[in-house]
Amino acid sequence: MCGIVGYVGKGTATSFLVSGLSKLEYRGYDSAGVAVIEGGDLTVRKFKGRLANLASNIQTSPIKGNIGIGHTRWATHGAPSDMNSHPHLNSEETIAVVHNGIIENYLELREWLKGEGYTFKSETDTEVIPNLIDYYYHGDLFEAVKKAIKRLEGSYAIGVLSKNEPDKLIAVRKDSPLIVGLGEDQFFIASDIPAVLNYTRDVYLLEDGEIAIITNSGVKLFTEDGKSISKEVYHVTWNEDAAEKGGFDDFMLKEVHEQPKAIRDTMTSRVSMDHSICLDDLKLSKEDLENIDRVFIVACGTAYHAGLVGKHVIESLAKIPVEVDIASEFRYRNPLVTDKSLVIVVSQSGETADTLAALRNSKKIGAKIVALTNVVGSTVSREADHVLYTLAGPEISVASTKAYVTQVIGMYMLAMNFAETKGTLTSKELDKLKEELLDLPEKVELVLEDKAKVKEVAKKIYKENDVFYLGRGLDYALALEGALKLKEITYIHADAYAGGELKHGPIALIEEGTKVITPFTQDDLKEKMLSNIIEIKARGAHVIGICYEGTKGVEEVMDEVLYIPKTLGMFGPILGVTVLQLLAYYTAKEKGCDIDKPRNLAKSVTVE
Ligand code: G6P
Repeated sequence: MCGIVGYVGKGTATSFLVSGLSKLEYRGYDSAGVAVIEGGDLTVRKFKGRLANLASNIQTSPIKGNIGIGHTRWATHGAPSDMNSHPHLNSEETIAVVHNGIIENYLELREWLKGEGYTFKSETDTEVIPNLIDYYYHGDLFEAVKKAIKRLEGSYAIGVLSKNEPDKLIAVRKDSPLIVGLGEDQFFIASDIPAVLNYTRDVYLLEDGEIAIITNSGVKLFTEDGKSISKEVYHVTWNEDAAEKGGFDDFMLKEVHEQPKAIRDTMTSRVSMDHSICLDDLKLSKEDLENIDRVFIVACGTAYHAGLVGKHVIESLAKIPVEVDIASEFRYRNPLVTDKSLVIVVSQSGETADTLAALRNSKKIGAKIVALTNVVGSTVSREADHVLYTLAGPEISVASTKAYVTQVIGMYMLAMNFAETKGTLTSKELDKLKEELLDLPEKVELVLEDKAKVKEVAKKIYKENDVFYLGRGLDYALALEGALKLKEITYIHADAYAGGELKHGPIALIEEGTKVITPFTQDDLKEKMLSNIIEIKARGAHVIGICYEGTKGVEEVMDEVLYIPKTLGMFGPILGVTVLQLLAYYTAKEKGCDIDKPRNLAKSVTVE
């Protein structure tokens, strides 16, 4: 979703603003703009479309100032257009604002401000903010911002500049991420760390309600009531290369290739043949686990699909009932969460608005919250009772890959830890699982080595309008994730069905040549699945199976078989998904799609 950057220092503001925005492109956007104080005046440039439009405009006609703000907009209120792009100004054009989030009471504020003589040019909710600040401005920008934010309902990370106080940048955060970068003689704001990494590794992670006043002489932090506060500097330890393509055509392909390492990192010091599974600070006793009435796994998108695997493994290994919910449904359906429930929220970014709301609602009821997240210091990680970090490293491509596999690994570790504590598995059974789990990175490497075959299959499906995915048990969860990957980056209509549901509707869609992808990793469901395959074959389907090496009887019924190394059924999704990710990737490549930045999608959905 929208990305924000800001600069105060001795350098040319636009050089950071443009480079910082380019590092936030992964969030998804449809227009870009900057506002810079130049010779005491506000210069604003903003354009619909790619950041390159803005960058080439600035290259042709440079802006000289040393203080500025920038924004990539993902349209919510009003279509993508130059006018609706940020920054937005007050009617008198003295104050500029960039905003990520949604102002829920903007219509009411807009009407009221109109009555006070203010005029509006855009259709956005954001435009009320500079006008509101102007309304409260009587010679002190900080005071005006404090008063203005008291009137705002909704979520926001904002950056504010005023030509009346030309050496000051004010940043505020509530429910949308914002960091402050601390360089030598230069300071930055950004929605995410990669934007500032070329300039500094020291950042403040702003909390909700915190305000930063940034000038050439430094950064001062305050509460929303204006009380001065101090904060620990967070030093970023991961490498800048982690946010670069490193020789791959696209971030997505790079990230799929990073899966073996991401899995190893996520298991390091947690899974070993020498000790029990350790889950950092999450130490639930047998009694704690027996007192849990239910586990709820709540997430959105790909993370929800990892939750589906989680339900299966926690129920089967630890014998605890689990519900899995899409966060946007969970938050409004009054789920039967109690103070005895364990709520596991899964979120790569740790900032997804619906997931965060689900966490907060459950916390109010008194449930224990575990966050499975990839971003250290993210809002979800800070608000949960316990955090289990997936150590996938920064994920840039909008379509999630390595984060998904590490979320699934997180689910295995949770399930095995619960099973061990509750005594629902013998130590021999646990050792077998651990052994297989520890072998997974190597097996993913083998799948990656076999990508030429996947490329060939991609050539056969890229012209399709519809592709179906069919699976049973964990293969159904896998089918859902495979279909999501394909539709996200190729725009081919893709749907996943449970094998047993075939006769209740989907089989009507099968005709001569219909492409059906069938993950086939669950040995106990093999016969049932084979019957489904034979049924669709009889109606003309072209079946592409994902099977363990050495599986008997599949080549006879499937048109193509993509083989993966043998593992336990429980771990099949990790190997199977790697094939499905590659298949989506190469299909998108055949179609010439913009893989890392698919249309209409955002990496981090920070609004409802
Ligand atoms: C967006 C992203 C998906 C992601 C989902 C949940 O839709 O494009 O890749 O799975 O949000 O994001 P989260 O950060 O909470 O895992």
